Amino acid sequence: MKNTFDKNMLDFDREHIWHPYTSMKDPLPVFPVASASGVRIRLADGQELIDGMSSWWAAIHGYNVPELNSAAREQIKAMPHVMFGGLTHKPAVALAEVLIAITPEPLTKVFFCDSGSVAVEVAIKMAIQYWAGLGRGNKQKLLTVRSGYHGDTLGAMAVCDPVTGMHGIFNDILVKHYFAEMPMCGYHDEWDEIYIKNLKEILKVNHESIAAIILEPVVQGAGGMRFYSPTYLKRVRGLCDEFNVLLILDEIATGFGRTGTMFACEHAGISPDIMCVGKALTGGYMSLAATLTTDKVSDGISSGAVGSFMHGPTFMANPLACSVALASIRLLLSSPWKERVSAIEAQMKDELSPCAGLAGVQDVRVLGAIGVVELKQPVDMKVIQETFVKKGIWLRPFGRLVYTMPPYVIEKGDLSKITKAMVEVVGEGRRV
Ligand SMILES: Cc1ncc(COP(=O)(O)O)c(C=O)c1O
Repeated sequence: MKNTFDKNMLDFDREHIWHPYTSMKDPLPVFPVASASGVRIRLADGQELIDGMSSWWAAIHGYNVPELNSAAREQIKAMPHVMFGGLTHKPAVALAEVLIAITPEPLTKVFFCDSGSVAVEVAIKMAIQYWAGLGRGNKQKLLTVRSGYHGDTLGAMAVCDPVTGMHGIFNDILVKHYFAEMPMCGYHDEWDEIYIKNLKEILKVNHESIAAIILEPVVQGAGGMRFYSPTYLKRVRGLCDEFNVLLILDEIATGFGRTGTMFACEHAGISPDIMCVGKALTGGYMSLAATLTTDKVSDGISSGAVGSFMHGPTFMANPLACSVALASIRLLLSSPWKERVSAIEAQMKDELSPCAGLAGVQDVRVLGAIGVVELKQPVDMKVIQETFVKKGIWLRPFGRLVYTMPPYVIEKGDLSKITKAMVEVVGEGRRV
C-alpha cells in the first residue's frame, strides 16, 4: 500500500486529536510519519529525519528492529493478550526473571503495569500499603525535590515540580506532599553537606508522616534535563534508612543504559526499596512498565489487614509487550551497549562543546547518551522544530532546552549531523 498522508488527514488530526501538551485551538504543526527504520524517521512526503530523541528515551535500538519484530510476530501467533487475573504466561515469567537479574539485588518482586505514570502510582501505593501493613497508616506523604517529573496522572503529578507541573490549576485535587530544594550539585561537583540540608530538615521534622522519598536518580529529565551528584543520591539513601522512610527511584527515563550504567542508581552504588521502569523496557515498541520492590516491602504489604496489593490493570503483563520487552533486554545485553553509550558520550562532549561559547547559551552538559544545550531564553517551538526538520534532524526542544538522546545504535556520522545541527541552530543567534 502506498504511504500517503493527504491534507484531509492532517486537517482531521488538527480538528480532532490532541497531541502531547498542545492546544486544540491553536496547535503546533505536526509532521506525518510514514515509517521508521534504524535511526531514520521517514515523513509522508518522503523526507528522512535522523532521530535524536529515541521517541522520548524509548527506542534505544532504533526502529523496525528485526529481533523485536520477530518477537512480536511469534507472540501474536500464540496470543497477543490474556488477562493476568488467575492466569499467567511465559513472557511475563521470563521478563520478570530478567528484570530481577539486571536490577539491584534486593529487588525481587515485580508488578507489571501499563505506562510510566501508572508505575509511579503503583510505587506510591506500595509504599503506603507497606507502612499500613506495619500498623503505620499515618505514613501517607511523600517527599521529593523541585524540578522533578514523574508522569501525568494525578498521583504522579502530585510529586512533579509544582510550577512546571501546574499544581495551581489542580490545587484542590492534588495531594500536598513535601518538596525539598532541587539538588544543586552538578554531577561532577565536589560534595558539600549544604546540598542536602533542606531535604534533611524536612525529613527530620516530618518523617513520622512520610512513607517514601521519590526521586529520578542522577538525571532530572522532563523537569529540566539536569544531572546531579551521585553523592546526593547516596546521602538520600542514608537518610531514608536513618529516618525509616522508603526510597522510590523512578528509572523510567534513565533505565536500560541511558546514563552509561544499566540503571542510574548504579552511579551512586545504592539500591532503592521500590524502582519504576518503563519507556525503553520494550525498546520503544509499545507501552509497558514495571514497579519492582524488595521482599521486605512485599512482606509488609502482605502482613497488612488487606493482605493483597490493591492494583490490577486490565492489560497487566500484556504478553505481546512482555515478549517484545524480553527481546529488547536480550538484544541490549548481547550488544556492546556500554561501549556504544560511552562513545556517544565522548562524541557529544566533543561536538557540542562549541555551544558553550555562544552568547545565548547558559550551559552545555552531557551524561551517557544524553546531550543538553541549555539556553538563556526559551525557544520558539514552532520555528526551531521546523528548522531542525529542514536540516533532516528530529529533535523536540522544550523551554530553554535543546537536547538529544539518540538510539544507542546511531553511527558516528549520523550523530555528527545531529550535533552539527544543534550547534548551527543554537549559534544562529536569532531567537529560535
Ligand atoms: C522520569 C519519568 N517518570 C515517569 C514518566 C511517565 O511515563 P509515561 O509517559 O510512560 O506515563 C516519565 C515520562 O517522561 C519520566 O520521564
